[in-house]
Amino acid sequence: MAEQESLAEALRECITKVIPSADLLMMRSDGAKLNLIIETPPNIDKAKQQHLLEKLRAVIPDHFHPVVNFTKVKKGVSREQANEQIEDYPQALNKVRNIIAVGSGKGGVGKSTVALNLAWALCDLGYRVGLLDADVYGPSIPKMTGHAGQPDSDGKMMLPIEVEGMKLISIGNIGDEQTAAAWRGPMATSALMQLLTRVCWGELDFLFIDMPPGTGDIPLTLAQRGHLSGAVVVSTPQDLALADARKAMDLFRRLSVPILGIVENMSSFICPHCGEESAIFGIGGAEEEASSLNMPFLGRIPLLQDLRVAADCGERLELTVFEQIARTLLKNPIINPPFSGEADQEVQQSEQR
Ligand SMILES: Nc1ncnc2c1ncn2[C@@H]1O[C@H](COP(=O)(O)OP(=O)(O)O)[C@@H](O)[C@H]1O
Ligand SMILES: [Mg+2]
Repeated sequence: MAEQESLAEALRECITKVIPSADLLMMRSDGAKLNLIIETPPNIDKAKQQHLLEKLRAVIPDHFHPVVNFTKVKKGVSREQANEQIEDYPQALNKVRNIIAVGSGKGGVGKSTVALNLAWALCDLGYRVGLLDADVYGPSIPKMTGHAGQPDSDGKMMLPIEVEGMKLISIGNIGDEQTAAAWRGPMATSALMQLLTRVCWGELDFLFIDMPPGTGDIPLTLAQRGHLSGAVVVSTPQDLALADARKAMDLFRRLSVPILGIVENMSSFICPHCGEESAIFGIGGAEEEASSLNMPFLGRIPLLQDLRVAADCGERLELTVFEQIARTLLKNPIINPPFSGEADQEVQQSEQR
C-alpha cells in the first residue's frame, strides 16, 4: 500500500511538472494494468497529452501496462463546478430509466447479496439491468459473480462486463481491494462518479448501485449527485442494524431520494439438517420499522447457508424470494416505466392471473 502511495505521489509530481494545473484523479492497479485518470485544463492538446504520457512511462515501473484516460476541466470553473457540470448532463445515463441505490448504515447485512439477486431477478423478468458496485471498502460483486476481470474501454468510455445479460462494473474490477482501501476520500468519490457517468451503460431499465456502508462522504455524494430515482434499504431485524439503517434512511430523506422500500435480510435461519426455523437476529424488526415509517416493506430473506456458499463460489442461487421482492418493487409508483414493454406486459399479465 505504501508502494502505491509513493507511486501516486511520483506520478502527481511528474504530471504537475508537465502540466502545472493537471491532477491525478484516480489510480488503480491489478498488478498488471495500471489505470489512471488524469484531469487537465481545457486547452491541453493531444501533443501535450502525448508528451505527458512519455514522461509518465519513465516513472511507471516496467511490469505495469498503463491505461491512461484524460478528462478536461471546463474553462473558468473550479474542479468541483466542472464535476457538477459534467454530472448534470451525464450522457452515459441518458438511457437509464431508474437508478436505484441499495444501501444500509451497516456492512455485512447483505446489501451486495440483495443488489445482485434483485438485479438478476429483474433480468429474468426480461428487464435490462446494470449493477455498479460502489463499495470501495469491500467490493464483493466480482467474487459473487465470479467475474473479476478488468473492463475494456472504447478509448473514451469504459465498457461494462456482461454477466448473463446483466451489465456490471465494480470498483473491484478496476484494481485490487488493497488499492481500493488506499484511496483517499475525495479521490474515491471522484472516481466513483466517473464510474457512474463514464461507463457505456446503454439502454437500461434499472441500474442498481451497491452502496458502501455508512453515511460518509461516498454515500453522501452518490445520494446527492448520483441521479438516484430511489433507494432500497437493507437491514437485519436486529436493533443495532436497524438503528444504522435509520441513519441511512435519514440521509436519503434529507437529500430527497425516495425510499422505495426496506428489505429484511437474515430474518431467520432454516437448519439445512432438520428444517427447523430459528430467529437468530430476531424476526420482523425491519417490517415493523417500515410500517411505523409508512414505507413499503419489500420482503424477508432467510439466512440460508446455500446462499452464502453460492456467493462464495461466484455462483447464483435462484430463490423465489428475490423475484417476489422484484415484483413488489415494480409496483412502486415512483419507478419510471421501463423501456422493455414486453417484460412490463409479462409482469402485468402474471399479476392479473
Ligand atoms: N440471507 C443470507 N443468508 C446467508 N448468507 C447471507 C445472506 N445474506 C448475506 N449473506 C452472506 O453474508 C455476507 C455479507 O453479505 P453482503 O451481501 O456481502 O453484505 P454487505 O454488502 O452489506 O456488506 C456474505 O458472505 C453473504 O454471502
Ligand atoms: Mg457489499
